Amino acid sequence: MGRSSLYVCQTCGAQTRQFFGRCAACGSWNSLVEQVVTASDTRRRRPVASSAAAAGAGGGALGATDLPPRSRRSESIHTVGERPLQRLGSGYGELDRVLGGGLVPGSLVLVGGDPGIGKSTLLLQSAEAMAARHSVLYVSAEESAQQVKLRWRRLGGDGSQLQLLAETDLELVLQELESLRPAVAIIDSIQALHDGDLASAPGSVAQVRECAAALARIAKRQDTALLLVGHVTKEGMLAGPKVLEHLVDAVLTFEGDRFASHRLLRAVKNRFGATHELGVFEMRDRGLVEVTNPSELFLGSDEPSAGTATIVACEGTRALVVELQSLVSTTSYASPRRTATGIGTNRLHQILAVLEKHLGLPLSRFDCYLAVAGGLEVEEPAADLGVATAVVASYRDLTLPPGTVLVGELGLGGQLRPVGQLELRLQEAARLGFRRAVVPKGSGLGPMAAGIDLQLMEAGTVAEALVMALGVNPADDRA
Ligand code: TYD
Ligand code: MG
Repeated sequence: MGRSSLYVCQTCGAQTRQFFGRCAACGSWNSLVEQVVTASDTRRRRPVASSAAAAGAGGGALGATDLPPRSRRSESIHTVGERPLQRLGSGYGELDRVLGGGLVPGSLVLVGGDPGIGKSTLLLQSAEAMAARHSVLYVSAEESAQQVKLRWRRLGGDGSQLQLLAETDLELVLQELESLRPAVAIIDSIQALHDGDLASAPGSVAQVRECAAALARIAKRQDTALLLVGHVTKEGMLAGPKVLEHLVDAVLTFEGDRFASHRLLRAVKNRFGATHELGVFEMRDRGLVEVTNPSELFLGSDEPSAGTATIVACEGTRALVVELQSLVSTTSYASPRRTATGIGTNRLHQILAVLEKHLGLPLSRFDCYLAVAGGLEVEEPAADLGVATAVVASYRDLTLPPGTVLVGELGLGGQLRPVGQLELRLQEAARLGFRRAVVPKGSGLGPMAAGIDLQLMEAGTVAEALVMALGVNPADDRA
């Protein structure tokens, strides 16, 4: 089959036979990406309206071979046959939860994350667990078979039927997939695979996309669930996984602090389940262990201290009790320092401005540091009240009564806004032994709340909430 390369501009879709740093048609820089055109592709593509071919420039190579036969017509949605969605358990409850209940046959899942975070470990462990019940192929393109075996031993691998292939050549990987027809295949990593027909280096956008598209075709055809490992750089660009997001059914990110032992697995895209589900693991000397009670990780010391406050964050269907720490100290700079870890700095700025305006606290003369315990990233506004309380507690050198949690979003006018999933949050707090919760007024708790053993204090404004939480009025200078 004759194959040749074509460079397609990712901005305007223009095609050239030669690589240029700048697209001659639209003038954008570095937008040309190499694509393989096979002789059969060009023959098949020509009769189709050229507009379709041009519009498909993004995934052109993939779309072309997947065109349905020309005789096929649309049909009524009622006559479309329904197949119940099967799920293959991954062997890890936390991974299954993030996948929405397990792996779907024929689906493509991209597992992204920084190098060294534990992607290979996670997938080798679940490959081993799955191999007890299904045929599983683990393709290691980064490490030799020996290295994988050493790790497998260390992870406690034993007599499972796991098949291993250490190979970087896409062609050979595809052949193996075809002859083995496994239920699950793991490609570690997609950046290390190499399609010999492309001149680009392994890991380049063209290579990553071409390899993933070829793997996707075969996975769909033979109902193999494919797990692709992808390295993500801080920019999320260079290494390529970003270009795969539209092609795969689910994108999971594996993240964590290199210096902490816990790892968080999240779904950022999932065609077969909810996104923003969270799985928590801990890296031990013998691999990753599931953490079924993650709140314990994110709660600090038992001794309450000035400037700490406890919030309940929600990640998907899961509530996490998390401790916030704040330090407010007189600034010696012209513009005070504001540093936040685990919470957006802009959010912190906004909360400080609300406190300054509505409580009259002169926070612009103070440096302010805020940290979420355990290295968790909390994005939701429901953490606002906790941030405000931690800051004010540090500013006034106050300690919150033990067993208090704070939930609520701050409006710019100083009002406290209701947040979603309040019952879930309160249940988790009560389960962990918290006794008081300051929540927004009019939260409309359902009947479930009746069974929650917590003293609820409802506040309409941040000023009211702070009085309830701290027991004194922080705006009062004698406090
Ligand atoms: P790895 O799975 O190789 O990361 P990735 O595939 O994402 O690049 O994990 C690498 C780190 O995990 C490495 O720094 C060592 C650590 N590790 C453990 O702490 N315990 C273990 O049992 C294993 C296998 C790895
Ligand atoms: Mg690896």
